[in-house]
Amino acid sequence: MSYQKYVKTLLCVIASSSLLFACNDVEQKIENNNVNPRHASGIWPRIDSAVKAEPQIERKVAKLLASMTIEQKVAQMIQPEIRDITVEDMRRYGFGSYLNGGGAFPNNNKSSTPADWINLAEAMYQASIDDSLDDISIPTMWGTDAVHGHNNVIGATLFPHNIGLGAANNPELIEKIAQITATEVMVTGIDWVFAPTVATVRDDRWGRAYEGYSEAPEIVKSYSSAIVKGLQGYPEKDFLGDKNVISTVKHFIGDGGTSNGDDQGDNLATEQDLFDLHGQGYVGGLSAGAQTVMASFNSWRGEKVHGSHYLLTEVLKNNMGFDGFVVGDWNGHGQIAGCSNENCPNAVNAGLDMYMVPTDAWKPLLENTIEQVKQGVIPIARIDDAVSRILRVKYRAGLFDKPSPANRPLSGKTELIGSESHREVARQAVRESLVLLKNNDNILPLSPKLNILVAGDAADNIGKQAGGWTITWQGTGNNNNDFPDGSSIYDGLAEQVSKAGGSITLDTEGGFTEKPDVAIVVFGEDPYAEGHGDISNLEYQRGDKKDLALLRKLKAQGIPVVSIFISGRPLWVNPELNASDAFVAAWLPGSEGKAVADVLLKSKAEQQQYDFIGQLSFSWPKSPYQTSLNQGDQGYAPLLPFGFGLRYGQLSILPNTLNEQVASLPDADNEMAIFKRATLPPWQASIASSKITMAINSSTAQLENISFRTLDRFVQEDTISLKFLGEQASYVVANPFSEDLRDFAQSDASLVLELQVNEPPKGKVFVEMNCEGDCAAQVDITAFLSSKPQDKWWSLAIPLSCFSAQGLDMSKVTVPFKLSSNREFTVKIHQIAIKPVNESISKVSCGHAE
Ligand code: BGC
Ligand code: BGC
Repeated sequence: MSYQKYVKTLLCVIASSSLLFACNDVEQKIENNNVNPRHASGIWPRIDSAVKAEPQIERKVAKLLASMTIEQKVAQMIQPEIRDITVEDMRRYGFGSYLNGGGAFPNNNKSSTPADWINLAEAMYQASIDDSLDDISIPTMWGTDAVHGHNNVIGATLFPHNIGLGAANNPELIEKIAQITATEVMVTGIDWVFAPTVATVRDDRWGRAYEGYSEAPEIVKSYSSAIVKGLQGYPEKDFLGDKNVISTVKHFIGDGGTSNGDDQGDNLATEQDLFDLHGQGYVGGLSAGAQTVMASFNSWRGEKVHGSHYLLTEVLKNNMGFDGFVVGDWNGHGQIAGCSNENCPNAVNAGLDMYMVPTDAWKPLLENTIEQVKQGVIPIARIDDAVSRILRVKYRAGLFDKPSPANRPLSGKTELIGSESHREVARQAVRESLVLLKNNDNILPLSPKLNILVAGDAADNIGKQAGGWTITWQGTGNNNNDFPDGSSIYDGLAEQVSKAGGSITLDTEGGFTEKPDVAIVVFGEDPYAEGHGDISNLEYQRGDKKDLALLRKLKAQGIPVVSIFISGRPLWVNPELNASDAFVAAWLPGSEGKAVADVLLKSKAEQQQYDFIGQLSFSWPKSPYQTSLNQGDQGYAPLLPFGFGLRYGQLSILPNTLNEQVASLPDADNEMAIFKRATLPPWQASIASSKITMAINSSTAQLENISFRTLDRFVQEDTISLKFLGEQASYVVANPFSEDLRDFAQSDASLVLELQVNEPPKGKVFVEMNCEGDCAAQVDITAFLSSKPQDKWWSLAIPLSCFSAQGLDMSKVTVPFKLSSNREFTVKIHQIAIKPVNESISKVSCGHAE
């Protein structure tokens, strides 16, 4: 026996019966000489989970499994989404689980009441245990993204996003928050949450930075353990009892460490760093007994984790000893080389136990998987292992014994959703998460007796302060009425100032009639989620510094300025810091904005004064290009270090003269993406027809002569489809503040589109660019489009010189791309960028220009 095989066998024996199948699988691989040489690297410790294997449960699992057909087994491994299945589908197939994605509600209705949620849970549950069509009775379970409270449900308590909780550095509070979240989720009859995210965030350009607690693995580790305990409860006490839900540590593994902070990108860490930095959340969460792990969209060194036998089976299950189940992420299996959403034996063979398969891909996937088991493409032992794991978790969660969702002790106790005591805990979290970065002359705390002006577009905007994953997936499209009993930051200030006899005015633009004593300006990032939040550097409001203008306008009038900055990550705000007398990083506080006033304003009795206790859990950059800035790095030179946070009375250290110059882009970054998975800031897309222009804010938009929708090519909504319907219409990307593209023009860059023509143009198609002062230049691309095969992806480049030759001022571009036609034409576009290209890309000759 080779040494490797010896170690593996030993581990398998120690791991006991529950892991037998996985071990057999590994044995087979070893026999086939197919084993990954990195196994048994000694890096991944065995985790001593608080939840132990119980022979009684193992017997039940084995017995039930023995009675199941292949069809019934595979159905346990399928998790479709509520927008794509009916209760009848559940009755017919008996899926092991189902989910609602971000912004998916019962009956597709955003205003669904808790009763609607329970009704759906009850109907799905009853259909799952109904054996009339599938001949088996196994309770299904509903999974949801309760990632900062039960955030898809109107009226729920919304806690600060994880980045703010990280700054609070209070594991006990985190456990309480998790308990409350579990309670509110249980009220709606849901069994399982896809939280906590235990990413250790190493690059702040990542659009999910705010879902992580910290750049420091120690914080992630201790929080992960606390939140899992809060969600699931404690073995020997209330483990997965009436008030608890199953938790998920996600996204395994390395999501916070991808190159360039690219969402779903490639993590190039060494194996030791993968464990030391990105594995610590799993050490914390699995020790506390987390029952599920979600596989990550990202790759590790070129291989998608969903398809990595090494990471899912050898590391997680065999070495770390995880005996719960691995759920995939949103069609994540479809991203493995050789797979599609509908077909992917590779994922199960690698160790995925449950496919998350939204969209209508679930049915072909179910059928293909059944077929693959029958043909031996997927060994039955692997299926048995996966299903055993799922059933084990269901038994541990008491799903076979608990009453149905509508009849559980907390079901329907809707007074618990957003209850005052829950909100009070959220307010504590808000207070503790605020980090004071600057406080010249100890201007804070402010007396509530002053005449205070409140300005900025986040001051009275609960949706903005709550960020992504708030009612909708992106957190966009919400207004204050969507948060009954929630409060904005202004609400809290107004309440306390009027009580104390001061005066307060709200004016977003900073207008006033009587000169105020002080202005509190609340501003920051608009909500985003996942890859939509990826940015290429950390400059705040690049190309459009309208908040800076507001701060400066107030300062110029001699009004002291207190800035409250809403953001999902640290950003380069040197100019805004210089223009502020005090500056507070408030992160994404959630539904309880009013707690900000508790800390900001002077309390009547000194001993009741709340202080700032938040400390940066992410280092603060001094240049837009300090994108991967982490304590302990070589040459670490942040503006403000990890752990920084002023308290009242402490000396403020930031001068008012921080460098405001942005150095020019490093050569390697000589690309400006305009649409890449999303329209990137500062650009905004719209469609126009018959003089009506409509900004695009969701996945579909329609005007008389043009329709727009998003499609998934590789990842969610990474492609747009435009259908021109026959009269003059256009798709426009614009920014009211112009962008200087001279660097690009000088390096012979082109406007590059990756596109697919689906219906060839029946008339002329133009690409246009505009610059400030109504200037325009256009290129006719009709002949070019018609010369390419239909329904195939290809790239087209229009040299910027085609536009500048017509007199377009490249230093002041307001519209880098406008596509128009007055005849029928359908096109899909996957990317729009400005960059230099080589010969492999077809260049439009300017001769086509008219
Ligand atoms: C996200 C997960 C989430 C899932 C379900 C995915 O795109 O990456 O974090 O749990 O969607 O909404
Ligand atoms: C869906 C969301 C979902 C998300 C997962 C989007 O395309 O609209 O509901 O949560 O993908 O990443």
